[in-house]
Amino acid sequence: MKNQLTLYQQRVCNKLETFLQEYQPEPLKLTKAIHYATLNNGKRLRPALVYATGEALKIPLEKLDSAAAAIELIHSYSLVHDDLPAMDDDDLRRGQPTCHVKFGESTAILVGDAQQTLAFDCIAKDTFVSSHHKIQMIQMLCHASGTEGMIGGQFIDIESEGKTPSLSSLQQMHKMKTGALIQAALLLGACQSKDYETLKPSLVDFGAKIGLAFQIQDDILDIESNTETLGKPQGSDLDTDKATYPKLMGLSESKTLRNQLISDAKALLINMKLNNQFLTELVDYIADRSH
Ligand code: IPE
Ligand code: IPE
Ligand code: MG
Ligand code: MG
Ligand code: MG
Repeated sequence: MKNQLTLYQQRVCNKLETFLQEYQPEPLKLTKAIHYATLNNGKRLRPALVYATGEALKIPLEKLDSAAAAIELIHSYSLVHDDLPAMDDDDLRRGQPTCHVKFGESTAILVGDAQQTLAFDCIAKDTFVSSHHKIQMIQMLCHASGTEGMIGGQFIDIESEGKTPSLSSLQQMHKMKTGALIQAALLLGACQSKDYETLKPSLVDFGAKIGLAFQIQDDILDIESNTETLGKPQGSDLDTDKATYPKLMGLSESKTLRNQLISDAKALLINMKLNNQFLTELVDYIADRSH
């Protein structure tokens, strides 16, 4: 799996670099800050899901590049804003000082805003994808990152600090803040396939499971890992008394639920006949990962 993952990571990094090279707004500080928050050490999981899903459905990689870069730009923007003092107030991200620590708070707010508009521009400018599919992709990203997805989930996350919501509210929050973009990565990868409409309900179901498992593992790592491995501050959730799975159901039950979601997801992958070695290992990696 590692080799394939590295190839996808390198591919999206190249695409992001080329795309951002054409975009050098004055003053230079803004450009530098956008590059700093984008061209760094992220795992690039969402682009890997775009590429892997697309390739499994025989879509050429060049028709997947702009969607892969766009979803990483949206995700990176969500992290820049997530770390702000008014949000989670964290000072380390992807192994480096957070954007607001390095460049100041107002710049970091604008960097996130810029990454968001760049994401949509990246798809709009694509010359390999048809206009029909470009509009479809832009709509998918709007839906997944907007108030019904990531932004809505982040709002609930902040409102839930210091509280103990019900398990069903917590599940809804996790599905929105993290699951929605992971689900969108699969749909972005698949939407140019002739089998898309048939596959879509199962992909949505599969995406919900791996998206929730991904955030449960993130909650677990906040307790069990360390800052150096994570590249972000361990214990951040405890500091801000976040509503998390370990807080609500304990560590051991959180792991059981995570494992159940992973095995359900792998069964769905088999049903969809997308159970190639890479996608199967990538699903396992969501639960096994150390950072
Ligand atoms: C972190 O996402 C934020 C969550 C949604 C849990 P990742 O763990 O994918 O972070 P990067 O992109 O590798 O930094
Ligand atoms: C963030 O969840 C989800 C986003 C939409 C960015 P977290 O706040 O748990 O992410 P980390 O742990 O800071 O990466
Ligand atoms: Mg957060
Ligand atoms: Mg955070
Ligand atoms: Mg976290």
